[in-house]
Amino acid sequence: MPERENSVAICGINYGDEGKGKLADRLVEDFLIKGLKVIVYRDNGGANAGHTIELADGRRVATHQIPSGIFYPEAIVVLGKGMVIHPGDLMTEIEEMTEVNGKKGIAEIMIDEMALLSLDTHRAMESIENSWFDGGKGSTGRGITPAYSDETHRHPLRVRDLIRFDENKIREHYRYYQAEISGLGGNLEKIPVFKYKSEEKIPVGTEDEFVERLRQQAERMRIYVSDVNPFLRSAWSDGNYAFVFEKAQAIGLDKCWGVYPDVTASNTTFSGIFSSTEGIVDPNDIPSRRGVIKSTYMSSVGIRELPTMLEKARNKNKPFNELTAQEQFDIRLAETIRKDFKEYGASTGRPRGIAYLDMPSTRFFSKVGNVNEIALTHMDAVYPGLPIRVCVDYLIDGKSDYYRPDQEHLLKVEPKYIELPTWSREQIQQARTSDDLPREAKNFIEFIKRETGIPVTIITNGPKRNQSINLI
Ligand code: IMP
Repeated sequence: MPERENSVAICGINYGDEGKGKLADRLVEDFLIKGLKVIVYRDNGGANAGHTIELADGRRVATHQIPSGIFYPEAIVVLGKGMVIHPGDLMTEIEEMTEVNGKKGIAEIMIDEMALLSLDTHRAMESIENSWFDGGKGSTGRGITPAYSDETHRHPLRVRDLIRFDENKIREHYRYYQAEISGLGGNLEKIPVFKYKSEEKIPVGTEDEFVERLRQQAERMRIYVSDVNPFLRSAWSDGNYAFVFEKAQAIGLDKCWGVYPDVTASNTTFSGIFSSTEGIVDPNDIPSRRGVIKSTYMSSVGIRELPTMLEKARNKNKPFNELTAQEQFDIRLAETIRKDFKEYGASTGRPRGIAYLDMPSTRFFSKVGNVNEIALTHMDAVYPGLPIRVCVDYLIDGKSDYYRPDQEHLLKVEPKYIELPTWSREQIQQARTSDDLPREAKNFIEFIKRETGIPVTIITNGPKRNQSINLI
């Protein structure tokens, strides 16, 4: 099949939170202006994601399970087969989004009946696992990995089981988790789990309570659920539809490509679209497969140790005055960036670790992720007189090395940095076209293109909705 016109896919390249939400939102608007019907399709992850969008009136809203086009009543948002759906959280999120958009109304929501369920049983399982394995502590606590592993273990519980209300299957599921968890020394009924965004946890409850809660949620969710496959098949071959494929998380969080234990269970690369759509959408037919990089630094939540982290785990217990001048500077810079650019998890509120931009891993993730365009966000994350530090190579014993998805390997490498001239934050924030960009920013864009071999097609130059510039 030739490339499918008017279709764009977006993924994070590094460790999430690169600003995909804003780009996806802008694309929906652009396609609607062209007079097309727009489908925003999400194929991976669940309540672990947090896509921040700024509304026309300046309010900032984070969506979690719902794709970004939700605030356009003319759009259709699809929660695809590759996702894991938490019904309780989802219904609360739909209510919240409906309230946020008021009279304007929200997009049509379609949930694939084949998507997996992610339930409180999974959240409880994750929390008991964490008490066994120190490494498990990095997750968002939304039970994502246990939900996906139901499928690997060949006892998947799908959205359609909930909608048909297959009570036997749901009870069987509860009892299975109860047995597993009690084998691990816990009591499913009493384990506190997260509820939507709240940091407060509530116990899972008895089997009957669990079943009744799901029964009520099934009633509310039913109207959104269908067999998405035939709709998708016909829309994909209908030129009146535009598609935005919005991935969640990022390639550096993929279990094949990231660093354990801070990896997520879904397929975070574009190939996840192929399986989620049951082969209808071959990602290679999507002409614009856009990978997003936070331009001047990277951020990540979790306990992995990336070579370019500004706050080194090895220095954690050292008195500040015993650190080198560069280490002290890095710690202060990380704090400043976190504060200035709101680097706290949209799902969990946890402070994100800050790292210098790392080209060896960025090149690797772009390649394995099949990225053919780069979007640079946060181009305004610059400080007067402070050159932009970028790691261009890894060194082991002075010799050039490379990224591998292996923590032990990454602990051995020493980043080789270069410094690029900075630009004015004010000037870039005011830019409206590529001609207005400061010369140093243009050089930075060229640098990224050279280093990755991939063209940069869009940048964002501030937090506001209109602060993005197409470069082609
Ligand atoms: P899980 O997806 O909850 O299992 O978490 C696994 C790892 O991925 C943890 O390090 C999380 O912090 C990270 N993670 C999951 N979703 C996101 C996201 O949307 N943005 C950034 N990090 C994420």
